[in-house]
Amino acid sequence: MLPIPSFVGEFFRNPATVGSLIPSSKELTNKVTEPIDFANASCIVEYGPGTGVFTDILIQRRKAETVVVLVEVNRRFAQLLRERYAGQPNVHVFHGSADQTGQYLQKIGFVGQVDYVLCGLPFSSLPRRLGWRILEHTRQILLPSGKLILFQYSLQNKRLFGKFFHQLDEAHVLLNLPPAYVLVYEPTPEVPTAPARAEQEKLVSSNAGS
Ligand SMILES: C[S@@+](CC[C@H](N)C(=O)[O-])C[C@H]1O[C@@H](n2cnc3c(N)ncnc32)[C@H](O)[C@@H]1O
Repeated sequence: MLPIPSFVGEFFRNPATVGSLIPSSKELTNKVTEPIDFANASCIVEYGPGTGVFTDILIQRRKAETVVVLVEVNRRFAQLLRERYAGQPNVHVFHGSADQTGQYLQKIGFVGQVDYVLCGLPFSSLPRRLGWRILEHTRQILLPSGKLILFQYSLQNKRLFGKFFHQLDEAHVLLNLPPAYVLVYEPTPEVPTAPARAEQEKLVSSNAGS
């Protein structure tokens, strides 16, 4: 069994991926979970749950049949989450990266797209390409009516988020160390690649005469 990881210890081990010295506050947890319609959610994904401050609320408020998928890149945190939620039905912990979530959903036999992605990943310190991949992947796994709920310590990546999502809401939570922004997004439709666009245009012009 691994020793219980401390947040601060994991931060000093992996500052770029852990991104903060302490877990999020109760106030930030409330703000991040506020947009979730727990009565109607079939599947909620959380990226980077850390020690599980948001997860505790997800699990308290969800219906037992709502699937909760936790994707955590830190091995010690993933192990802690596995132990903590071991007795909970429909809670799945994956040790891996957020951009692999589609595979994890397949592994548990979840068919379709998810209602919510809760995300506290430190985009400012993650490699830029990984950030892109995670956002692109998130758009693919979310229902068109689904929501991405992000918290960030600065607004410096808003332009990046705007490439994949349309912003619905923004709030600043001061009672957190450091204060944080909560951003709520819905997916924008995917822009087709150039070959797919050419194919679509061919189809439109061949149908024009019929
Ligand atoms: C700022 S902490 C947030 C932890 C917790 N959600 C909270 O609010 O206290 C960021 C978390 O994201 C995890 N993380 C970083 N990159 C990740 C990735 N690519 N996929 C999944 N988790 C990742 C870190 O290990 C860490 O647990």
